[in-house]
Amino acid sequence: MGKTSLVTKDNSKFKINKIYHGDCIKIMSNWPEKNVNLIFADPPYNLSGAKLEWRGNKTGGDWFKMNEDWDQMSEAEYMNFSYKWLEQAKRVLKDNGSIYISCTYHNIGELVINLKKLGFKCLNIITWYKSNSMPNMTKRQFTHACEYVLYFAKGSGWTFNYNKTKQINPEKTKEGAPKQMRDLWVFPLCQGQERIKAHNGRAAHPTQKPEALLERIIIASSKKGNLVLDPFLGSGTTAAVAKRLGRNWVGIEKEKQYVAIARKRLGQLK
Ligand SMILES: C[S@@+](CC[C@H](N)C(=O)[O-])C[C@H]1O[C@@H](n2cnc3c(N)ncnc32)[C@H](O)[C@@H]1O
Repeated sequence: MGKTSLVTKDNSKFKINKIYHGDCIKIMSNWPEKNVNLIFADPPYNLSGAKLEWRGNKTGGDWFKMNEDWDQMSEAEYMNFSYKWLEQAKRVLKDNGSIYISCTYHNIGELVINLKKLGFKCLNIITWYKSNSMPNMTKRQFTHACEYVLYFAKGSGWTFNYNKTKQINPEKTKEGAPKQMRDLWVFPLCQGQERIKAHNGRAAHPTQKPEALLERIIIASSKKGNLVLDPFLGSGTTAAVAKRLGRNWVGIEKEKQYVAIARKRLGQLK
């Protein structure tokens, strides 16, 4: 799939099938409106805090608390940040486009409030049950094993490939026939061969999403040749799956080292 150009507000070229390095609010605000069919966003969850490590724990190996600079805002800053990127996401989405946002109990409130403020329509709040979730260290609450994926539409006429969702659904009817896909999805956190490693053997990105999650979303809500945007691209999962499934894609990532990982990953895909 070659690079295609559209004209941006400042008349420079906007290329698709490309990774942009920078702040997604700034970059999207310079793009032409209504070009994107589908957005998957995995924004900062705003959960990093004091460094916490538990080396050699018995159940899952070393345990490190998320501790990233891009993931630490005050409540007011996070509310404002969520509004601003969602406002730009809405502007660049086609009128019949849809958006999926992954989140946890940490940030679901801010995201849903701002989606509603901006007039998005809620289609589903999907629960992703992580079958290999981390143990709870504090032992003062239930172990968190779920993330949520907010599925909202900008307007009417959104793409939902109902029959394809039935075909790819691992759950079958009692008779073994294809079954409607529910809003509870079960698969493990990104691990094994799929997990991109840094030179020191640790995960190259702290929150790499499993490709299985993106496959469902892209198959359900886009057609071949459609444009899929990820404004918080990280290690490039959305772009890699979009490319593999014959979609056009565009990604934005603020941190240079993650841009390099994503570019390498995309470059290695045939
Ligand atoms: C939760 S991670 C996304 C991980 C990604 N889904 C993957 O599979 O690798 C969020 C990413 O957004 C980036 N980021 C944070 N703030 C940003 C901003 N304002 N604009 C663009 N990227 C940003 C971070 O550097 C981080 O890589």
